Amino acid sequence: MCYKGARAVRGALVVKPRCQAVRGTRDVLPDEAARWQYVEGAARSVFERYGFREIRTPLIEPTELFTRSVGEATDIVRKEMYSFSAGSESVTLRPEATASVARAFVEHSLHRTIAAGFPERVYYIGPMFRYERPQKGRQRQFHQIGAEILGAKEPLADAETIEMLWSFLDAIGIEDRELVVNSVGDARCRPGFREALVRWLEPRLDRLCEDCRRRARENPLRVFDCKVEADRELLLGAPTILDLLCGGCREHFEEVCRTLDAYGIPYRADSRIVRGLDYYERTVFEVLSRDLGAQSAILGGGRYDGLVEDLGGPAVPGFGFAIGLERLVSLMPGDRGLPAGTDVFVVSLGEPAWRASIALARRLRAAGVRVAMPMSSRPMGAQLKRADRVRARFALFVGESEIASGRYGLKDLATGEQSSVQEKDLVARLGGRHGE
Ligand code: HAM
Repeated sequence: MCYKGARAVRGALVVKPRCQAVRGTRDVLPDEAARWQYVEGAARSVFERYGFREIRTPLIEPTELFTRSVGEATDIVRKEMYSFSAGSESVTLRPEATASVARAFVEHSLHRTIAAGFPERVYYIGPMFRYERPQKGRQRQFHQIGAEILGAKEPLADAETIEMLWSFLDAIGIEDRELVVNSVGDARCRPGFREALVRWLEPRLDRLCEDCRRRARENPLRVFDCKVEADRELLLGAPTILDLLCGGCREHFEEVCRTLDAYGIPYRADSRIVRGLDYYERTVFEVLSRDLGAQSAILGGGRYDGLVEDLGGPAVPGFGFAIGLERLVSLMPGDRGLPAGTDVFVVSLGEPAWRASIALARRLRAAGVRVAMPMSSRPMGAQLKRADRVRARFALFVGESEIASGRYGLKDLATGEQSSVQEKDLVARLGGRHGE
């Protein structure tokens, strides 16, 4: 949004529009970005231990991809997509990435890379877009870290992926969390459940909200997505899918639960978890945190054995999850992922020394040291203040005599300890070679 603000320029009043971020989007400023990098780094490191490799797909996709996969009757497709025409095509800013991964899998025939028992594992990190009502924990542009396994129908794929998530949440210090799991059945048992649910809903329709009445007609399972408290209470008495699973789905679910037990991962089976996307079959799950308030899901996921085939590919089963990055970062303990400070602040004493320190800074940076120094010769007090502000570990004092002798005064800013160091020993003392 842009609005007019008045500003005096050389005595005259000039009106210039001032812009703000679009509602439901936000800036991640450098201090906070360090915490994001920390989470992303931990995710990459943990996921790669389990054989996941990164995939990057476009932010825009054909609109039809989401209507076919996420489903016409879902809230996402009905009212939350940023869709627009580009030329003759209708495109959409991706509201999620599972459909994109499945599309890429089909488009590049990645089924050729899998064999029975040896699936393809991919992960992604990036922005998603949903036109939702912004509130705490809910934005219109948000970010997900997600992972998908394609080509594994075995219950171990579900349980091992959840175990990986558990290790990841441990690694970044998220303590308040609850795993809830359910099965939404498959093409064999869901029609029976749907029928039972419709029979139960019919005499109660007038007590449900308008959205639920529509859901009951179009896609009855979606009534469980309802956010209206009175409806949610009434729905507590509805038939539950767990009682109506077919043999195959029941066995799969029980095996997932047994494996989670064997891993020692605590969970609660909750038949109300149906997830807001239509592609799920069998296992669905969420991890909730009371610390998040109303938007309590840190992450959600499940199995989607029909999706790749629905998008024109071969019959390849899938399982995955996506974590809300903003929600995750907000839950992380404050001491995690603090912004990295500078290794050394070059404090120059006078103009000639400042000029000489430009070349010194260049040599140190080339050796991998994080160096800060002023853009022009500044008083020593101002430089030391700045060194504190950028949390430099050391101050390196450069005066004309230091340049002549090749020995510099080095002060550890945490301990106050001072020493005299030759340039050839500086890199080792300053801990160079970052990022290599
Ligand atoms: P989802 O439950 O729609 O699932 O989103 C996953 C997570 O993204 C949520 O648990 C939440 O943390 C975060 N999230 C969703 N919407 C918003 C929002 N408006 N603002 C902030 N955070 C949000 C999916 O997207 C599926 N693709 C997950 C999946 C992957 N299933 C299988 N594979």
